[in-house]
Amino acid sequence: KPITTPEITKCGEANLPQGAVPTSCCPPASKKAPKLFNPPGLDTPLRVRPAAHLVDKAYIDKYSEAIRRMKALPADDPRSFRQQAMIHCAYCDAGYKQADFPNIELQVHSSWLFFPFHRCYLYFFERILGKLIDDPSFAMPFWNWDSPAGMTMPAMYTNPRSPLFNVFRNPAHMPPKLVDLDFGDKDEHNASHDNFSDSEMVQHNLRIMYRQMRTNSSTPELFFGKPYRAGGPVEPGAGSIEGIPHNSVHDWVGDPEQPNKEDMGSLYSAGRDPLFYAHHSNVDRMWNIWKTLGRRNVDICDTDYLDASFLLYDENAELVQITVADCLDSERYMRYKYQDVPIEWKDMKP
Ligand code: C2O
Repeated sequence: KPITTPEITKCGEANLPQGAVPTSCCPPASKKAPKLFNPPGLDTPLRVRPAAHLVDKAYIDKYSEAIRRMKALPADDPRSFRQQAMIHCAYCDAGYKQADFPNIELQVHSSWLFFPFHRCYLYFFERILGKLIDDPSFAMPFWNWDSPAGMTMPAMYTNPRSPLFNVFRNPAHMPPKLVDLDFGDKDEHNASHDNFSDSEMVQHNLRIMYRQMRTNSSTPELFFGKPYRAGGPVEPGAGSIEGIPHNSVHDWVGDPEQPNKEDMGSLYSAGRDPLFYAHHSNVDRMWNIWKTLGRRNVDICDTDYLDASFLLYDENAELVQITVADCLDSERYMRYKYQDVPIEWKDMKP
């Protein structure tokens, strides 16, 4: 049976790591029953998510203003930045138990729910931003960390006066420092990353991308992660990308001086950093790219996958039930795609 989100009033106390300031991760209750996701029609113009390092000032102003307005919403508005950040905590730190299995947590990481959950989460986040600035065509940026030109923290997030800024980040990793896509990985090369020159780091990152997107992702299960079914074991196993570079980039951004590398370095707090959404946008982009890399690179068609569902608030603060099947094709069902940028790792056989 598929995993389903319980009624959100059943959301309970999350299991926060030691040292975390106790907070509830639960969203406000909905007055109405959830409605089923209604995909935007094919005549809806495609939103094109741009690479964060390529946008102009007008875009940055617009995006910053949207985030500013989201942060200014009352804390109990499900569309507020605070509530959006807590979605991640609720779905990742045992705020929810599985519907029908009140003793088993709902955990979207380390399983095949990783890609679809974050896609649905970001989808509504983006719709809410668009609504707040009265621009339904608004598309959020992606942090293009897989391409040499995008391997530093995108500048728009590092201006301390911007709503996109967050203080809980590793100060040693501000630009021009290049990201280390397998940061913290304990392989035999690890010790040498610190001594990499910039061009060595770029080459290393491109090889990591090739390895994770091709060599280690030769089947759908290897790419998406292991089956996670109602009542079955929690965290059955992550897909290639979820581990590296997804987790490693989280750790690279988080502040090592905080007890749990908050914000980005811990699941419960990661959504509080605006950079989280650009990071996940690029993770989501990898799903689309992977499907173009080979004839056997196709979506999982197990019904326990397709029928798994999440409850999220939309741009009108209405609760929506969205299934994995609803989000398999970002262009057709959700009407967004990614800016075409060079993919330098595609042929970087290690
Ligand atoms: Cu839900 Cu990047 O983790």
